[in-house]
Amino acid sequence: MNSKNNDEDIMESIRVPTGIPGFDEICEGGLLRNRTYLLSGTSGAGKTIFGLQYLYNGITKYGENAIYIATEERPEQVRETVKAFGWDFEALEEEGKLAILDACSTKIGVPSHEKYVDVRPFDMRSMMDQVIAMQEDIDAKRALVDGTTSIGFYLNDPAKIRIELLKLSTTLEILGLTSLMTCEVIDQNAVSRFGVESFVTEGTIMMYSTRAESLRVRSIEMYKMRGSNHSQSIHPYDITAAGIVVHPHEEIYTA
Ligand SMILES: Nc1ncnc2c1ncn2[C@@H]1O[C@H](COP(=O)(O)OP(=O)(O)OP(=O)(O)O)[C@@H](O)[C@H]1O
Ligand SMILES: [Mg+2]
Repeated sequence: MNSKNNDEDIMESIRVPTGIPGFDEICEGGLLRNRTYLLSGTSGAGKTIFGLQYLYNGITKYGENAIYIATEERPEQVRETVKAFGWDFEALEEEGKLAILDACSTKIGVPSHEKYVDVRPFDMRSMMDQVIAMQEDIDAKRALVDGTTSIGFYLNDPAKIRIELLKLSTTLEILGLTSLMTCEVIDQNAVSRFGVESFVTEGTIMMYSTRAESLRVRSIEMYKMRGSNHSQSIHPYDITAAGIVVHPHEEIYTA
């Protein structure tokens, strides 16, 4: 093998393709390995679907196991939702390729029969202990924390939120995971809910659902990506029967 091919192999291993059609093209082939990215957007923008598609593609296209930390939705519901896209999460869990942490049921006071349950609502230490145990079980390469906003409300202090999210993102990186952490925004012009979340992550992906007369237009942007070049444009995307499809050669000017 000549040196050019060797270089290409190294570059490939540094990048973690999301496998989401069109998205990797706007960020030079994918996310940077072992880094944590914020996935920010308004309610219904498509953050959860994007994050779950990233995990599903990791397992089915790239042989990378995945951990999903569900703080906002019960795992039972998520398994049902993703069936619409043809994704069979139960089968992947049975094969030991996907592990889901139920960090939602305890918080809302309903019983959970999940294999992995966070028993103390929003105790960062106990959540990280669970993630470490899950990682020992399945040796994952990708993770999704969906999401950070309820953690933020529990801590209720931007300084604490900043340090706790930094601990979480750094722990995920040390565990060898390339991760997405979702973040709700209520103001289309804001990058995050508490104003600190994007500072503790290596990059920020923004998802928009903007009103254009009688339509809603979905668009996505790589807002920040430490250590990499990326598209500076806002690109439209659709949610189809097969999940999210980004249009990297089209631009939106009015997000
Ligand atoms: N099977 C489907 N086909 C097409 N569009 C869908 C399908 N399922 C969901 N959607 C669209 O995706 C939206 C929800 O996406 P998602 O749950 O990823 O949003 P979110 O950004 O995580 O929202 P939240 O902040 O409320 O959690 C729905 O409002 C709907 O418009
Ligand atoms: Mg969501």
